[in-house]
Amino acid sequence: MPMINRFAETHASITAIRRDLHENPELQFDTRRTSALVAEKLREWGCDEVKEGIGRTGVVGVIRGRQNTSGKVIGLRADMDALPISEATGLAYASRTDGKMHACGHDGHTAMLLGAAQYLAETRNFDGTVCVIFQPAEEGGGGGREMVNDGMMEEFGIQKVYGMHNMPGLPVGHFAIREGAFFASADLFDIRVTGKGGHAAKPHDCIDTTLVAAHIVVALQSIVSRNVDPIRNAVLSLTSFETESKTHNVIPQHVDMHGTVRALEPAIRDQMEECLKAVVTGTAATFGATAHIKYIRNYPVMVNDPAETRFAAEVARDVVGETAVTEGIPPVMGGEDFAFMLEARPGSYILIGNGDTAMVHHPEYKFDDEMIPTGASYWARLAEIAMPAA
Ligand code: NI
Repeated sequence: MPMINRFAETHASITAIRRDLHENPELQFDTRRTSALVAEKLREWGCDEVKEGIGRTGVVGVIRGRQNTSGKVIGLRADMDALPISEATGLAYASRTDGKMHACGHDGHTAMLLGAAQYLAETRNFDGTVCVIFQPAEEGGGGGREMVNDGMMEEFGIQKVYGMHNMPGLPVGHFAIREGAFFASADLFDIRVTGKGGHAAKPHDCIDTTLVAAHIVVALQSIVSRNVDPIRNAVLSLTSFETESKTHNVIPQHVDMHGTVRALEPAIRDQMEECLKAVVTGTAATFGATAHIKYIRNYPVMVNDPAETRFAAEVARDVVGETAVTEGIPPVMGGEDFAFMLEARPGSYILIGNGDTAMVHHPEYKFDDEMIPTGASYWARLAEIAMPAA
């Protein structure tokens, strides 16, 4: 069975919802309008239960199949939040708020899952229960973690969980996926180097914090190249370097640095943290300075369960055909908040083609509404194939 015909009929109405969300982007957990709209539509379309306020502003809708002999419960997840970017697409339905933009297509993800929820509530052609999960704060806020910590999996008895994200560069009507580690862990670090400030003409009376910090920057880059096994993957990027002195003749007392560490395996993640602390502390000590390190373990590695990934690829082939589904694509060193849900339950995360547009997080990024019937069909067929009705 290819694309579901019902999604041709609802294409215009779901597109209208998507464009309304696009005009009204909301950041992080502050998805109040979006969450209210989602909950209203789910109720209007006859979901059996709609619960708001999970993980602060997350929403879960429950749709029971016309049979429930399987006892299966699956979760389908979309993200709802926008980015602090000023939109430059020139679209008629561009963001009405300067400095906020749906530049990652989460408006489209929300709309596609809403479209699937409408269809599943109408047809209920499955044996089990579908939970549609709408999460806030995917962009760095850990909304997925908050929903899991709020007991969502236990409360709704969710056994397996699936995610989807659009991908520019992959043609519309195509899917791509990989099993195992797919998105990297994403940790954060703050370093404060303390030396001894003083007159720039008298360095011998000071401990030059800027020089110490500069040595730290260089030494940190030896971790990936010299400590990590070269056939494994890790990234360390130092993204901010700020001395306390804003003038020409003062050696600063402090230098603050910030950055991020990414890895595709928990053991490499541990090694990166350990090496970072050793290199920073040791380099500072070499020069008689001290360093204070705050290392924040943020997103874990996002791991696609192998069996669930084979199943997700089968569903995608059912919707778009054999040749439009690529398996075994390379992993991504970006982080993905869905990792928290995949730590809690087995499942899989798939990429859906968004064609030729600027990359996500760019001010000219556009979500192609032609994707909506394909994405909604994937969700609907996933439920129908995972839990076939007799
Ligand atoms: Ni995104």
